[in-house]
Amino acid sequence: MSKVLRIKSSFRGEEAFSAKLGDAIVAKLKEKDAEHSVIERDVANSDFPHIDGEIVGAMFTPQPDRTAEQQESAKLSDDAIEEVMDADIIVIDAPLYNFGIPSNLKAWIDHIAKAGVTFRYTETGPEGLVKGKKVYVAMASGGVYSEGDFAALDFVTPYLKTILGFLGMDDVTVFRVEGTAVPELKETALENGINSVEV
Ligand SMILES: Cc1cc2nc3c(=O)[nH]c(=O)nc-3n(C[C@H](O)[C@H](O)[C@H](O)COP(=O)(O)O)c2cc1C
Repeated sequence: MSKVLRIKSSFRGEEAFSAKLGDAIVAKLKEKDAEHSVIERDVANSDFPHIDGEIVGAMFTPQPDRTAEQQESAKLSDDAIEEVMDADIIVIDAPLYNFGIPSNLKAWIDHIAKAGVTFRYTETGPEGLVKGKKVYVAMASGGVYSEGDFAALDFVTPYLKTILGFLGMDDVTVFRVEGTAVPELKETALENGINSVEV
């Protein structure tokens, strides 16, 4: 049995193409092993905050030295890191907004990227400390970014692969629902994306 952590980041909730693609990934994982447990965190439709001075100050204050307010401020970050460390498989729903990831998903990354905990600097350079995970990205975009003129404008895939790799998660597979805003593609975009899923 594996533990699956699902990160949702579209404000469109269950209607989102990225969420439907993420659902398909989780369904395929469960086909392989019905015992998989799934923890879901929706960073778009919850009070998941962007970092600020208070949160970062709390995150980097050692646990025993934190005030009661700092304990509260650091809790989301501590919990998010624990969920990542605890997972065997991570499924990240990632709609493309303005060529990049939604700011809520970036906020989640800002909460889990913590020097000394999820990565560290060594004499030979940085080392990711989140090891042994399999990551699937369920990407959705209005245009087509897997090939053609717009491929160079996909900052979702290179960014996620870079930051996740930096944290030690170097086994990342991206599936796409693309062309959701292109008249001749939008009717088949979801089906094509779901059919491409292999786990
Ligand atoms: C704020 C915002 C910005 C967007 N920017 C782009 C963009 O730069 N390029 C693009 O092809 N589609 C863009 N889209 C369209 C989304 O990528 C598309 O609707 C996608 O299906 C959203 O995923 P979701 O259904 O999972 O929410 C944008 C949508 C929103 C809401």
